[in-house]
Amino acid sequence: MSRTRIAALIVAAGKGSRMGGVPKQFRMLGGKAVITSSHEAFSTHPRITTVLTVIGEGQEDALTEALGDVPFALGGATRRDSVLGGLEILAADRPDRVLIHDAARPFVPSRVIDALLDRLDTHDGAVPALTVADTLARQDGDLGETVARENLVRVQTPQAFCFEALLNAHCSWPRDEEATDDAQMVRRAGGKIAIIPGDPMLDKLTYPADFAIAEARLTGRRQRSAMGFDVHRLAVGEQLWLGGVRIEHDKGLVGHSDADVALHAITDALLGTIAAGDIGTHFPPSDPQWRGANSACFLSHAAELIAARSGRVDFIDLTVICEAPKIGPYRDSMRQRIADLLGLVPEQVSIKATTTERLGFTGRGEGIAAQAIATVSLP
Ligand code: CTP
Ligand code: MG
Repeated sequence: MSRTRIAALIVAAGKGSRMGGVPKQFRMLGGKAVITSSHEAFSTHPRITTVLTVIGEGQEDALTEALGDVPFALGGATRRDSVLGGLEILAADRPDRVLIHDAARPFVPSRVIDALLDRLDTHDGAVPALTVADTLARQDGDLGETVARENLVRVQTPQAFCFEALLNAHCSWPRDEEATDDAQMVRRAGGKIAIIPGDPMLDKLTYPADFAIAEARLTGRRQRSAMGFDVHRLAVGEQLWLGGVRIEHDKGLVGHSDADVALHAITDALLGTIAAGDIGTHFPPSDPQWRGANSACFLSHAAELIAARSGRVDFIDLTVICEAPKIGPYRDSMRQRIADLLGLVPEQVSIKATTTERLGFTGRGEGIAAQAIATVSLP
């Protein structure tokens, strides 16, 4: 009997809107790109003969950077479109079976792939699923009726199918209806889908916090937090820079560099997490080369020192202390700028502001203070 031909289709054409617009499949996790981990689970599995990745237009370079020269297909606007795009390419040499997998689920235990494929001897498809632990309820703003959870499961990927059954299900699916996975489509077309035990390691990366959870699961890395504090004097005739953003104000901060007190506090917090001294240790005010320097380079340097220790910045929390200017209108652009400098998404940067009720030097408008706490994880 000839060997069963088994293809794996990895869908990676998403835009990561719930991740703040970051295509999470190309983000680093545990020292490699997410998609590299998901791809390896299939490319190294002895029963799988072909692996095809589906990416979005413009993601070609990111794919090559993560995986080198691998076959790929172009996806579409929805996950369903992307799966179909891949199936149409695979249809050229009709594998017997196909596994569909979300690139955003990087940890695929080999036993899950084996168990799924084994169920195809008796079923048209098979999915890993977990029971639901929390109470489930409807809501319309307020809490609605509780939904009995006894017969509910959380369905994960990879999902395995007889190739013909899946292709037919996709071809007969109504064009104007969306489906969040493939098993529901095969089932609607009359197929029988088996359930095998899922695995928490298969949980999908969907929100920014999922990366920290996955990282901790993966390596047991330790988180460390440290604080930074800085003050600069306000004076007429200076530009005001806060959090890497130029702010319109009648005064600006005075200092040796651009005096961005917010970036200085964050830089000190970052350096603190690796006990690497403070900003003055690395950029002595006595050194003329830092005169008027853009403080973004201080922040980037601290981030590089953390990266050199295989560390990763998880979260920044900043408080700016001043009577004026108002920080609120600049909050989003500051979050974005700081996130960009540190390779984070804005959801990992918190910015708060407070006055001191007109008390003290900040209260009299003589200066601005900033304090920050940085949280990093280290091996
Ligand atoms: N996917 C895809 N094509 C799309 C949408 C999603 O290939 N048009 C892929 C994603 O890359 C991901 C998997 O399907 O690996 C699961 O989708 P999801 O978690 O929804 O990812 P995104 O669509 O990127 O995220 P979001 O919905 O938050 O935008
Ligand atoms: Mg999506």
